[in-house]
Amino acid sequence: MTKVPEQAGASTIWGGRFAGGPSAVMQRINASIDFDKRLYAQDIRGSKAHCAMLVKTGILSETDGQAIVQGLDQIRQEIDEGRFVFRTDLEDIHMNVESRLAELVGEAAGRLHTARSRNDQVATDFRLWVRDTIDGMGEALKGLQTALLDKAERHAATVMPGFTHLQAAQPITFGHHLLAYVEMFGRDRSRLADGRARLNECPLGAAALAGTSFPIDRHMTAAALEFDRPCANSLDAVSDRDFAMEFLATAAICSVHLSRLAEELVLWTTAQFRFVTLSDSYTTGSSIMPQKRNPDAAELIRAKAGRVIGDLNALLIVMKGLPLAYSKDMQDDKEPVFEAADTLELSIAAMTGMITDLSVRTDRMKESAGAGFTTATDIADWLVRAAGVPFRQAHHITGHIVRLAEEQGVGLQDLSLSDLQAIDPRITAEVFSVLGVEDSAASRTSFGGTAPLNVTAAVHSARQRFL
Ligand code: ARG
Repeated sequence: MTKVPEQAGASTIWGGRFAGGPSAVMQRINASIDFDKRLYAQDIRGSKAHCAMLVKTGILSETDGQAIVQGLDQIRQEIDEGRFVFRTDLEDIHMNVESRLAELVGEAAGRLHTARSRNDQVATDFRLWVRDTIDGMGEALKGLQTALLDKAERHAATVMPGFTHLQAAQPITFGHHLLAYVEMFGRDRSRLADGRARLNECPLGAAALAGTSFPIDRHMTAAALEFDRPCANSLDAVSDRDFAMEFLATAAICSVHLSRLAEELVLWTTAQFRFVTLSDSYTTGSSIMPQKRNPDAAELIRAKAGRVIGDLNALLIVMKGLPLAYSKDMQDDKEPVFEAADTLELSIAAMTGMITDLSVRTDRMKESAGAGFTTATDIADWLVRAAGVPFRQAHHITGHIVRLAEEQGVGLQDLSLSDLQAIDPRITAEVFSVLGVEDSAASRTSFGGTAPLNVTAAVHSARQRFL
């Protein structure tokens, strides 16, 4: 925590009309420096762009401009190197930087804020920060997709049970299962990219809310900061936080995807499933039960989705009642975004590590792929194909077969041909060729299906689409 001075006078930055200073409590509730110092690089970048524009348009002298830029570069270095003293009485990152600039370059510092307000300044800084974060997150997700694709390729032909209602449904391949997540994270990346494109307009120059009487060049600052264009409406520019909400919505959806995969890892590592083993690097032991290997990282990823969803809700609720244009409520936009970004970054890294290290119990997966009469649909499909039975009728006949297997306590492949023919005389010995779990998975060659050949091709095409 940055120290709050016991007694403080009125702010030198906005205190002209004030006789006394804010109370210590007021300073604490008002200050955002403890968290918005994370915006320092963006704040300085924005100020340099603004300064260059003021010089170019003749609003600021070259001499002042040079002094300001030098001062800003020095501040950047001081903060980078941890030598900068942040002060709570200076409220936020913008005033901390400006106040230090005044110490360094004197009066010129006071000219930097011409044709600008903290309202357009913070909106610009925050957009830049979210944009950088989106880029980093996209790369991290790409890394996770790479790990999933490598595993999927290795296990293109590894059969496992596919579930609906968490009841054994049909045999599938493990590679196919992993590729489902590759698609999800691909959509998350595409949502990030969509949000980035909409975010990429520059608020700088909207000033407090109404624009400015100075002859500024908003296109110049927008271009310098690599925005596509300036925001079209000054009121919208300072009060829009869609970019933050959209980022959080994307983050929340992504965290749900991570959480579902985490939940599967938790299930698959149980003694009951034993489908996969997590490496020592991503598990913990129990202080009392020596046999335990707990999937803590997966559990925590599952838990952290709750936080990210909470962050989205927090910002939506902060924004929902605010009239135009800026309200101080909007200072509370940053912590949810920072928390969601940090949380997700850690979750993606942990998931990437777990997937990379994951060892697969192909024997257990195969054994379990046939449990629960998972090839029943294959019998029904065979009746349709080989005997011309309408599917509804085939479904009914197969139901009888399953019941018989259940009564005899055997698998479908263990029933005798005569037992089967007693249920329906159209059944021949050929039916046994579709009852193996591998045959079953291999037969599902429709586009997007689970057959090993499909999976190998799908890995190839996913690499082209995503990597
Ligand atoms: N720290 C403030 C924020 O993050 C900066 C903008 C302050 N503007 C104002 N008019 N008080 O929102």
